[in-house]
Amino acid sequence: MFINNWYAACEAADVTDQPRRVRMLGCDFVLFRDARGRACCLSDTCCHRGASLSGGKLRGGELICPQHGWEFNSAGRCIRIPAGVPKPAEPPKRARVPSYPVVERYGLLFVFLGDLDEGARPELPDLLPEFSEQDRWYCSTLSRREDVNFMRMIENYNDPCHVNYVHEFGQWLPEGVTIETQALTETYVKAFHAAWDQHGNTSPDRGLLMEYSVVGLMSRNTNHQENYPVQIVLAVVTPIDIANTQIHMLLLQPRAEVSAEEHQALVSMTEQQVMDEDREVLARTKPLLAAPVTEELIVETDLTLVQARKMTSAFGRAMGEIDVAEVSALVRERIFVIPCPGHREDPKAWIHKTVPLLPRLSSPPETRTVASESRAAH
Ligand code: FES
Ligand SMILES: [Fe+2]
Repeated sequence: MFINNWYAACEAADVTDQPRRVRMLGCDFVLFRDARGRACCLSDTCCHRGASLSGGKLRGGELICPQHGWEFNSAGRCIRIPAGVPKPAEPPKRARVPSYPVVERYGLLFVFLGDLDEGARPELPDLLPEFSEQDRWYCSTLSRREDVNFMRMIENYNDPCHVNYVHEFGQWLPEGVTIETQALTETYVKAFHAAWDQHGNTSPDRGLLMEYSVVGLMSRNTNHQENYPVQIVLAVVTPIDIANTQIHMLLLQPRAEVSAEEHQALVSMTEQQVMDEDREVLARTKPLLAAPVTEELIVETDLTLVQARKMTSAFGRAMGEIDVAEVSALVRERIFVIPCPGHREDPKAWIHKTVPLLPRLSSPPETRTVASESRAAH
C-alpha cells in the first residue's frame, strides 16, 4: 500500500451532512459536506484523546467530536474547545487533524492520500469520458468490499483469460485471446486482446480492450463482441487495508442498442453472480500479495497483468510505500495517520505520527495524462 495517490473513498451521493467513516490504507477517515456543500475528508481520530470524529455531528459545517465537543473546520483545524474552562480558550497550534484534497469524478469521491502539493500531485486521468454523455449511455455503479488484496483485484481486472473459466456468463466467449496491440507509459497500460473465432483467426474488431491507470487505481475494460452492443466496465480499486479492498464498478451500455430492462439485468447479474465468482477464486489465491514472478509460471497472456503489477509497485515505491509490518506491530499502542499537504508546510504541528514508510526510490515516475486518442485504436 502506498501514499500520494488518488483513492476512491465512496460514492459522492453518500457524503452528506452526516459524518461518514471510510477506511483506506489501513487508516480511518471521516468524510462530510461543509456548510457550502463541499466534500471534505479528515483523519477520523481526534487529536485530543483519540475519539472517532465520525461518531460526532456537524453543526454549521463544523465537525463536533463526540467525546468532549471540540469543533473542527473543514481544514481540520480545531476552532473551539468548549469543555473544561470557564471561557473557551484559543485552541493550541497542534489542535488539528490532517485534511486531504477531494475531487469528484464519475460520481465517486477521490481523496488524495499524501502530502504532495497541488502542482506535484499525479493527475487523475479520464478513463471514462462517456460518463459525461449519460443521454447516450446507461451508467450504473456497484460498490462492494472484498476480502482480497488490492493488487490481486487489479490483476484480475487486467486478466482477459479468466473470463471464460471463472464466469458463467463468459462461457460463450472465446477460450483464448491474443494481445494484438499495446500502449504503455509509466502509469498507464492499454492492451487489446483480440478474440479467436472457431478457426483460430483473430479479428481487430472483436475482443477486449483493457486499460489500467495506477493513478486512481482504475481499470477499464471495453468489450467488443460480434452482434453484441459494446459494454464498458470501469473498476476502481481502493485498499481498505492489506487484505481487504473496496471496489467501485461502473457499468455502461449504449442506450440506442440496449433496453433499460436489459441493462438492469446486466447490473443484477454482475452484482449477484459475476463479482461473487471473481471473489471465490481470488480469496483463495496464494499468497495474499502478488507472488514473485519466480514463483509463477508467466505466459504471454499474463503480460498485461505483470506490467500492471510492475508499474504499480514502482509507482508505490517512488511515492511512499507504507511499512505494513511496522504499523501492524504497533497498531494497538500508537495512532498513525497518512501525511497530508499540511504536514509538508509544518511537519511539527501535529499530534499523531505519520505512517512509517519503506525506503523510497529517488524520484517519482513521470505521470503523463492519458489523452483520449490513446484509446482511438479501438
Ligand atoms: S477526544 Fe475529541 S474532544 Fe476529546
Ligand atoms: Fe472476472
